Amino acid sequence: MKITPQKSTLRQVKADTVTLFIPEDKNIFSREIGNLTKIFREIDHIVEIENFKGKIDEIVSIHSQSKIAAPKLFLVGIGEVDKITAERLRHASAAAAKKAQTPKVKQIAYQLPQFEYNLDKIIASTAIAEGAILSLYKFDKYISDKKDKSKITEIIISDPDETVINGIKKPSAETRIICEAVKLARDLSNAPSNEIYPESLAETAKLSAKQYGFTATIWDKKKIEKEGFGGLLAVSAGSVKPPRFIILEHNAEKKDFDTVVLIGKGVTFDSGGISIKPSNGMSEMKMDMAGAAVVIGTMEAASRLKLPVHLVGLIPATENLPSGSALKPGDIIRHYGGTTSEVDNTDAEGRLILADAIAYAANYKPKAVIDLATLTGACVVALGQHATGMFGNDDELMTQLKSAGDKTFERVWQLPIFEEYEKQIKSDIADVKNIGGKWGGAITAALFLKKFIPKNNQYKWVHLDIAGTAMLEENLPYAPKGGSGVGVRLLIEFLKNWK
Ligand code: BES
Ligand code: MN
Ligand code: ZN
Repeated sequence: MKITPQKSTLRQVKADTVTLFIPEDKNIFSREIGNLTKIFREIDHIVEIENFKGKIDEIVSIHSQSKIAAPKLFLVGIGEVDKITAERLRHASAAAAKKAQTPKVKQIAYQLPQFEYNLDKIIASTAIAEGAILSLYKFDKYISDKKDKSKITEIIISDPDETVINGIKKPSAETRIICEAVKLARDLSNAPSNEIYPESLAETAKLSAKQYGFTATIWDKKKIEKEGFGGLLAVSAGSVKPPRFIILEHNAEKKDFDTVVLIGKGVTFDSGGISIKPSNGMSEMKMDMAGAAVVIGTMEAASRLKLPVHLVGLIPATENLPSGSALKPGDIIRHYGGTTSEVDNTDAEGRLILADAIAYAANYKPKAVIDLATLTGACVVALGQHATGMFGNDDELMTQLKSAGDKTFERVWQLPIFEEYEKQIKSDIADVKNIGGKWGGAITAALFLKKFIPKNNQYKWVHLDIAGTAMLEENLPYAPKGGSGVGVRLLIEFLKNWK
């Protein structure tokens, strides 16, 4: 999907549709509609217009009858002008994009608001493009009859002012790259487990690395054994598909750049293992590698955007299945770095494979480590699908992520890791136990992970539990249900502002 800034007035915009944002404030509303009346003359008695007040979620379409260059005009309500935010623009542009989809429409345009409002033009144009592109996403590669497939291939952002147009050129190109990375993350999450399993996930990462100039190193089972990744081996033991450990690196040769490590949970299917899940809803667990998908998407975007940071992506990839060779409750695992864990429930597998990666990450002497995982149902109970659970050992790092979350609206919400919870994961026979009882499950999972940051080699760490936000049960304005790709825009925004 292209994003093209175009210098034009509303009359001139060259596209199949053009959208105007209209606020509900009386003065601005009448001025905007007044301008339209000058163009269309009889706009007043278009029935829909009579009820249009510029309120949020209102949208009307007008056939332009050659009065303007674009055949169709959408008016989208944007509510009170003082309350216009980037997120409101994303919603409004998404609504227009979805409404614009017909077999003939290829280019859709948005006229940047010409009235005064509280947003920077770059932020506004970026939000509009994001809302449009992300809302048009569909996972339809397995649908044979794609009759109703959207033909939209270009988003045009129009403004009569050349300075504005020049100013949004670079941000538009960047937004395109970021949206493509979100699409990749969504595609990977939505792909069924017979398409995306550890080996094919690794292949996809490798392909992206080759195409966009970062490096990919893939460990096979033998190498994983040699390195002593006991958690990854234990979880993969029940599957006939071998595990992989994926190491991605951007700017590896730049010794003076800070190192940031991203870790993504790559469970390509989570049946629960011997502690098997109920069959209802189990199919959703093909998305249990959403964290890995975000890491791959973020690496790709960071590389294409040439972000000045040494970025490392670590992905333990495995299936979690029951079989005669599977990990069993009661087993004790020795992880990378030597810490042992008692497995009380094989369905708490994410933390077992992340443990190895978290211990391994210390080798990079990172300035920050961020892990992303669809880790606990408890986090979904706590926060639902509108906020990612955030845990960490450094307030400044969490503040940076919070601010990136607010800007991108991929919001994170801090939950505590008070030491009082720790006794829930105390084991009598190993260093730690992999489940913490009934209450505070997202917290005890985070505390389990924290145990694997080497004591003699500490780093600043944040854990993002994306169980609720990465696999959507319901449509959102610009993310259909299924894999949302949440985390890509958040992390890129965070990395762009890195020191
Ligand atoms: N992948 C699941 C967590 C999950 C649940 C993600 C629902 C998205 C939606 C994870 O591996 C898991 O099974 N967690 C268990 C942990 C429990 C056994 C301590 C859970 O949350 O029930
Ligand atoms: Mn599980
Ligand atoms: Zn899982």
